[in-house]
Amino acid sequence: MSRNVVVTGGGTGIGYEVARRFAESDDHVVIVGRRRAVLEKAAADLGPNVTPLVCDLADPDDVEAVLRELPERIDVLVNNAGSRETVAGGGPHALLARWRGDFERNVMTVVLLTESVRDRLTPGAGRVVTISSIAALRGAGSYGAAKASLHAWNHFLAAQLGPSGITANIVAPGTVAGTEFFGPRLDEAEVSRRAARTLLGRIGETGEVAAAVHFLASPEAGFITGEILHCNGGELLGR
Ligand SMILES: NC(=O)c1ccc[n+]([C@@H]2O[C@H](COP(=O)([O-])OP(=O)(O)OC[C@H]3O[C@@H](n4cnc5c(N)ncnc54)[C@H](OP(=O)(O)O)[C@@H]3O)[C@@H](O)[C@H]2O)c1
Repeated sequence: MSRNVVVTGGGTGIGYEVARRFAESDDHVVIVGRRRAVLEKAAADLGPNVTPLVCDLADPDDVEAVLRELPERIDVLVNNAGSRETVAGGGPHALLARWRGDFERNVMTVVLLTESVRDRLTPGAGRVVTISSIAALRGAGSYGAAKASLHAWNHFLAAQLGPSGITANIVAPGTVAGTEFFGPRLDEAEVSRRAARTLLGRIGETGEVAAAVHFLASPEAGFITGEILHCNGGELLGR
């Protein structure tokens, strides 16, 4: 049966591959992001099952507006949108901007939408999958702290949705190539450095994270909830 799927940040990187997997399974996929042109190009590439919706998920007015456009029944919500705040410096103003920025970009983008659509999640079958990061367990300052807070929140969400037969899980990727996340910072030397930290000796691909998301969103994963699935080539335990 075809499902209604919402993928935030579905215009690029990991989210694009997630959207592709669902679209190829004949699901109806809404991809959400801030840049209209990026979303429209992605939707055109991915085919008629994919609909673009423009929204800044950290902005409550935008989220309120986008609720009118989203399906009344949502089978799968993939909270993938996120980014890193780049404000530098150690003074209180810079610290506040960086921490607020990372929480807005990585926590509010998830919480505002999920809490707003929770009554639309299909009882008995609904799935929420949220992307955090290995940074939630291995530091990375305000970005890691923001991603880590999603783990605590997800456990709470899973407990609340459990009685309705809806699951909520996290996928926590290590370094993944082929996305806009790092920009030019992920040069050859940085890739080698990060690859050396894994047990597989390489960084990940977007499709590998998308496969983990697709599994957790599948009907077969109905007894898995409140979990964190690590997808990092063994980097968490390291060499
Ligand atoms: N790449 C990695 O190595 C890695 C590792 C661990 C975790 N992650 C996480 O994986 C997720 C996907 O990242 P990615 O690597 O695929 O990077 P990406 O290509 O930059 O994808 C992020 C997507 O989120 C969208 N987005 C960001 N802020 C948004 C907002 N406020 N409202 C709506 N959409 C927003 C962006 O589109 P617009 O700019 O058009 O809004 C973009 O399409 C993120 O949560 C990231 O933290 C990535």
